[in-house]
Amino acid sequence: MKQHLKIVEVGPRDGLQNEQQLVPAATKIALIESLAMTGLKDIEATSFVSPKWVPQMADAAEVLAGLKRAAGVRYPVLVPNLQGLERALAAGVTEIAVFTAASDAFNRKNINASVDESLERLKPVAEQARAAGVKVRGYVSTVLGCPYQGSVPLAEVVRVSEALFHMGCYEISLGDTIGVGTPHAARDMVRAVRSAVPIEQLAVHFHDTYGQALANIYACIEEGVRVTDASVAGLGGCPYAKGATGNVATEDLVYMLDGMGFDTGIDLDALCHTARWISAELGREPASRVSKARQRVN
Ligand code: HMG
Ligand code: MG
Repeated sequence: MKQHLKIVEVGPRDGLQNEQQLVPAATKIALIESLAMTGLKDIEATSFVSPKWVPQMADAAEVLAGLKRAAGVRYPVLVPNLQGLERALAAGVTEIAVFTAASDAFNRKNINASVDESLERLKPVAEQARAAGVKVRGYVSTVLGCPYQGSVPLAEVVRVSEALFHMGCYEISLGDTIGVGTPHAARDMVRAVRSAVPIEQLAVHFHDTYGQALANIYACIEEGVRVTDASVAGLGGCPYAKGATGNVATEDLVYMLDGMGFDTGIDLDALCHTARWISAELGREPASRVSKARQRVN
């Protein structure tokens, strides 16, 4: 029997949050619904962050209100604080993702708090979410490098991952926010973190700035990781990590996993279709090699 590998699609959130032009809520909704039709079961839909910080995500409630939710699909949303949680609960979410980083310098730019301050801030968020029956995922950014402080000690990545795990996060997503990692560094990072958090509860989140994302994911799969974040058409970046490009493209990841004999449950042709459609909406070519290759063939 084929082994399953879970893909968490972050395109509607991580992919769109960095777009300069405001994307209409109707386009965001159409994107999420189209992704759900491809077989993806985990689609990060939006974020309830401060609209002053990320104007593109100001329509989070509108997006969720307009979304026809497909059976068996989860739609987590990013939440930075109690205010975000309140808005997310009012929108009827069943899963949130809290986020911090392994570097103070990045955290201060991204969420205006040090790592320790952010962990204190997130404790009641996780507690109240879980009390409301909402699942909580956790992100650690800058696990392989920080755009402001450079290298990040592995011990700090482990400490922050463990803190989120003890907060009750069911899964910890390890983010190479600026895509600077290489496979052996990614492998060593996973080895270090799994001494504190069970490997089944680890996910990886690679931005592809330096073209290393697939190789890094392969190295992490070899270490036993079975959850990977990805973004349709390779969209995205973090507004507070200048120069970083999008996540690994979901199509490229699915193509690799299909070839490795994993079961992802995703229809690659449908996914490439969605990638081309959203890229056209944004006025560009998909960053994904697979989408481009399929376009040439079909
Ligand atoms: P702050 O300015 O320190 O907070 O921001 P504040 O409490 O002083 O709030 C400032 C204003 O925002 C206030 O409004 C609040 O009401 C409002 P005012 O009184 O001035 O009118 N506000 C909110 N409004 C709506 N929803 C909220 C909310 N919170 C405050 N939730 C804060 C601190 C954390 C809020 C801010 O820094 C923020 O929202 N940052 C988010 C930045 C962001 O979204 N970054 C991208 C996501 S992370 C990422 O991409 C990395 C990841 O992909 C993994 C990886 O790649 O590594 C996950
Ligand atoms: Mg990201």
